[in-house]
Parts: sequence; C-alpha cells; structure tokens
Amino acid sequence: MAEAEEETPMETAEVAEPAAEEPMDLMTALQLVLKKALAEDGLHRGLREACKAIESRKALLCVLAQDCDQADYTKLIQALCNEVNVHLIRVPQAVQLGEWAGLCKLDSDAYWSDRYEKESEEFEWYQSYDSIKDKVKAAFPDTDGKILNIGSGSSRLPVSMYLDGYKKITSIDFSPVCIEAMKGKFADKAELEWKAMDVRKMEGLADDTFDYAIDKGTMDSLLCGSNSTQNVYKYLQEVKRVLKPGGTLLILSYGGPSKRDVHLKRPSLGFTLTQQEVPKPTAAGVTPSPGMENHHYLYTCKA
Ligand SMILES: C[S@@+](CC[C@H](N)C(=O)[O-])C[C@H]1O[C@@H](n2cnc3c(N)ncnc32)[C@H](O)[C@@H]1O
Repeated sequence: MAEAEEETPMETAEVAEPAAEEPMDLMTALQLVLKKALAEDGLHRGLREACKAIESRKALLCVLAQDCDQADYTKLIQALCNEVNVHLIRVPQAVQLGEWAGLCKLDSDAYWSDRYEKESEEFEWYQSYDSIKDKVKAAFPDTDGKILNIGSGSSRLPVSMYLDGYKKITSIDFSPVCIEAMKGKFADKAELEWKAMDVRKMEGLADDTFDYAIDKGTMDSLLCGSNSTQNVYKYLQEVKRVLKPGGTLLILSYGGPSKRDVHLKRPSLGFTLTQQEVPKPTAAGVTPSPGMENHHYLYTCKA
C-alpha cells in the first residue's frame, strides 16, 4: 500500500452505532434516534408539523436548534412542550439538525447553489468580521500577505477585511452561483479574487501560495455531511499544500476541541494547533437553555 493511502484516515459509519455497553454522547444518540425515526416515518419536521404532533400528544421528543433566530418560534415550541410534558432537546445548529433530519445535504454543491439562488441576500455564519477582527489581525499581522478565504459563501468577510487593509484575498466556494454573485457584487474591488472550486481539490492553486487562510463554518459543513472524516482530511491536506511553510490557517467553528482536535492534530498534517473561545452574539429574546454553549471556537493552525 502506498504511503498516502496508509495515511488517509478511514471513515467509520456515518453515524456509528456503538456497542451496547459503550458510552454514547447525547448528540450521537440523538442523531441515531432521528435517523431511525426518519426510516420509520416517525419524524415530523418543521413548525407546523411539529406543533401538530405535540398538541395531539403523539410526540415523544422534540428537537429544536439553539441558533434559531426567531424568538416567537422558540417560545411557542418551549411553551407547547411544557404544557404537554414533552422532553425538549436543543442542538447547536439549525443546519446540523436539518442534515440529521434528512432536510439538507451540507456537503453537496447542489444544496448550497440552490440556497444561494433562493437567497440573494448576504448571510453571515457565526460571527461578523468586526467581532473577530482583533483575533484575525493578531493571527494575520502582515496586511500585504496573500489570504485564502475558504468556503466564502455570501459572507461579507473578504470585503470587510479588504476595507480593513487586507487587499490580496482569494475567495473560493464550490457553488458557482455564489461565486458569480459575489464577483458581480464586488466588481469594483478588483483585487478581490473569486474562484469556484472544491476545497478538497484546489486545482489551479499552486503549492506554497498563501501566507494565511481563513475558514468560517466550512469545515463544520464538511463535518455535517457524509464521509466527513475523509473529506476534512483531504481539505486540510489541500490547505497545507497551498499555504507557505509557516503560514497560518484560522478556523472558526461551533465544535469544541473534543470534536475538532482529532482532525486538526493529525500528525500527518503537521499543524501546530492553538485554540481560543469567541463569545457568541446572542439573538434578542432568546434565552440560552441550560448546557447551551455561549461561545464559538477559533483554531489557529500553523503550517
Ligand atoms: C457554513 S457556510 C459558511 C459561509 C461563509 N464562510 C460564512 O462565514 O458565512 C459553508 C460554505 O462552504 C461552502 N462549501 C461547503 N463544502 C464545500 C466544498 N467541498 N468546497 C467548496 N466550498 C464548500 C458552501 O457552499 C458554503 O458557502
């Protein structure tokens, strides 16, 4: 077997079912329950269906996303569950819940392109540039450095960075719809480059090109899809290849070190890793539920 093949991490099952005596964390257990409920036609998705199932006392369990920004929606579900005594579990992200409930495929460009066709408005995942600016500046001290913005989406991040002095930014995303829209919108900023490209295969980007790379939510979306371990490994190998030796990759993620270190600390990648917490912006009217994480994680990976 070739060395590269030996190093490629193997995927376990998409939702590995541990042996009965093995401890399972709550989110893995929930993923399994949702998968089984979906297969048995026992999953009611969306506000209307969920309310009907709770009110008719058929619901055994209700699952709601913590980042739901519609306070009325959250209050209604909380009140209904209280009234009929249905257990309510919160998961960090609506997109993650959507994937587990079979509503979307976060690792498919068709899903993302469809989303960008329907929503032409800019959308910012997790944090705006302003709220992470100090940390970005500390990690990317040279404003002349070449920056790769990975899985750029419709975020203002590259434009805000540009206005803050960083001029040499190449943004990549595998949705051509999104790349074309951003290219058109910011055509006046000629130094910003936009390229439709899969982060797992950055063909067209030469080795040792970038001083810095930034990922806000993109590794997370790979982790929510199928073959996640291998996809994230291919992605990180590619970032390592296009970063100059000593270059820096910043990753903003909802996942803590217990879930991310396994990918970022792989010896074959050779990154030196540090991590810090960034407080989450809170949505008005939404009370954090017990156990809800109130920060994102910012990983600094030195090539
Ligand atoms: C969670 S969104 C984050 C968007 C943006 N970085 C932000 O902060 O708002 C993930 C983005 O990664 C892109 N993406 C997901 N998998 C990808 C892949 N394999 N190659 C390139 N882009 C990908 C999606 O199209 C989407 O725009």
